[in-house]
Amino acid sequence: MGEYVEIFEVGPRDGLQNEKRLIPVAEKIALVDLLSGAGFRRIEVASFVSPKWVPQMADGAEVLAGIHRAPHVSYAALTPNLIGFQRAMAARADEIAIFGAASEGFSRANINASIEESLERFAPVAEAAAEEGVPVRGYISCVTDCPYDGPTAPARVAWVAKKLLAMGCYEISLGDTIGRGTPQTITAMLNAVAEVVPVSKLAGHYHDTGGRALENIEASLALGLRVFDAAVGGLGGCPYAKGATGNVATEAVADHLSALGYDTGLDRAVIGRAADMARAMRG
Ligand code: HMG
Ligand code: MG
Repeated sequence: MGEYVEIFEVGPRDGLQNEKRLIPVAEKIALVDLLSGAGFRRIEVASFVSPKWVPQMADGAEVLAGIHRAPHVSYAALTPNLIGFQRAMAARADEIAIFGAASEGFSRANINASIEESLERFAPVAEAAAEEGVPVRGYISCVTDCPYDGPTAPARVAWVAKKLLAMGCYEISLGDTIGRGTPQTITAMLNAVAEVVPVSKLAGHYHDTGGRALENIEASLALGLRVFDAAVGGLGGCPYAKGATGNVATEAVADHLSALGYDTGLDRAVIGRAADMARAMRG
């Protein structure tokens, strides 16, 4: 067996949030239930954001109430503020994520706040989570490129990452939101972030818009990252980042990691069925 590399499945949230057709809750539950038997340790299943901003995610509580929870899986939800955190706790999410950005343009468009304001908003969420003993993951979007502001300075990503770590995030997921990163820009960004956050607490969240996500994962593996976010069927994108289609597909990452000799602990047949199901859910 090769060294373990974890794939964090984000399909039910990041994969589906951008779909135009309002997907019935039963379909979402069926996808999560299938994924729960695939060998993942963590699956992101919901997002407690404003339903006016992302209508597709309005039914997060119903999804969390309807799924059959596998004992070894942590079911995660995005929470932009205290309202979202309270909704996530009422729905019994196992862990939450606060999500910021390394570029001002995207931060504004996505969560209607500057980076500084967003960090002020996240602090009470992280505090409340610590009081409840709920793990908090931190996301940073636009780590190499922003659809509004252009290239992102690696030092800016490192600055945000340090703040999220100080707030108590157990892991920081670095998002190439529009899939424009290259092994060179990803490496430069990771080198800067690794100066302030241990590599063991970093995850790569790469979109495959430019077709380089697998190369970017390889570059990240070389620097010591061992966690990667992916979505079955390669669905997804962000409603506030035009052209950000396509999270890197879980099945492609699993195959690539296996070819490189790593162990993902995943059942490839189940992943294949989940990828088919996710693609069929597409509007
Ligand atoms: P705002 O309008 O500035 O917020 O939005 P507000 O505090 O002024 O509230 C406005 C209304 O929303 C109020 O209701 C609030 O009660 C309600 P009203 O009085 O108008 O009836 N509200 C909420 N309702 C339910 N749940 C909540 C909540 N918060 C406020 N949590 C806000 C600010 C952050 C809420 C908004 O901008 C928002 O929801 N943004 C989320 C956008 C989003 O989900 N984007 C996609 C996820 S990020 C992503 O995909 C990137 C990632 O995958 C990594 C990568 O790829 O880079 C993570
Ligand atoms: Mg994403």
